[in-house]
Amino acid sequence: MTQSLTIIRPDDFHLHVRDGDALAAVVPFSARQMQRALIMPNLKPPVTQVADALAYRQRILAALPANSTFEPLMTLYLTDQTTPQQVYAAHAAGMIAFKLYPAGATTHSDAGVTDLFGLMPVLEAMAEVGMPLLVHGEVTDKTIDIFDREAVFIERILQPLLIELPELKVVFEHITTAQAAQLVAEASECVAATVTPQHLLLNRNDLLVGGVRPHHFCLPVLKREQHRQALVEAICGPQSHKFFLGTDSAPHAQTAKECACGCAGIFSAPIAIELYAEVFDKAGALDKLQAFASENGARFYGLPLNQQTITLRKEPQMVAEHFVYGDHAHLIPLRAGETVSWRMVD
Ligand code: DOR
Ligand code: ZN
Repeated sequence: MTQSLTIIRPDDFHLHVRDGDALAAVVPFSARQMQRALIMPNLKPPVTQVADALAYRQRILAALPANSTFEPLMTLYLTDQTTPQQVYAAHAAGMIAFKLYPAGATTHSDAGVTDLFGLMPVLEAMAEVGMPLLVHGEVTDKTIDIFDREAVFIERILQPLLIELPELKVVFEHITTAQAAQLVAEASECVAATVTPQHLLLNRNDLLVGGVRPHHFCLPVLKREQHRQALVEAICGPQSHKFFLGTDSAPHAQTAKECACGCAGIFSAPIAIELYAEVFDKAGALDKLQAFASENGARFYGLPLNQQTITLRKEPQMVAEHFVYGDHAHLIPLRAGETVSWRMVD
């Protein structure tokens, strides 16, 4: 008999949906699987103001298929200019969180923060109203090796921040290392993490052995196998309630990925929940999938659990070679032209 599994409809607590034609091309994939998604604000220009976020939210809603009940949760992009007054206004307007991009760390991060500790009054205001800080946890110091940037961020920025402001809620986004998993597991209940499917399924060999695979390139970059294993242990382990689903699905046109200076970002939205099911299945921990995908994040953010359910069947599913992305572009998903061993049934 085919194995099947029904879980509360999941939420994606880290999602890039872009804007315009790209938005229309990608958001239906997430809306099919997820009930809610935390929308990343790294548009060009970034979403720094409440009014921009509310207008962006309307464009997302307008791009949804008819009858969709998908709910975008909005975040604002933290800059050196953000003020405590903006934090209070954002909270009052229903913004869920602020996203920290260290300036220069990744795609569209030029407007990001140059000195986090120069923003203490802003972070204190966030702690006061209970708004989480979502952290892209990599240093941008040119002298630090790209594979060490997350671990060094923990030492230089995150640990001092947690000591300085222990009441601030922090989500360490898309963690990639054993050090990050350990920090989150040992930290207070104010600290949690999202984990992507790629960092649970792939290691840096999958990026570089046998040729450079641009569709496996994201930031933070894939790490060694021992780190991948540590992430799997973390989401199944005794502190698993602190880890939750955040795909970081980040679409870029095929031409922007397959070129001399390819963009960082992996598009996983069409098969996100299936990829996570594979991870938990391989770990012999399918009973932990629902908590990771549909409970832990909601609880951390103080949101109600979703009412709807989805059903997954263990049955090989062929992933499309590409999707259409705007007028002339293609979008290559993770696992393009290969199979994933689970299928969400509509
Ligand atoms: O790989 C990534 N892509 N990492 C990020 O932090 C940003 C994202 C994007 O927006 O493309
Ligand atoms: Zn991201």
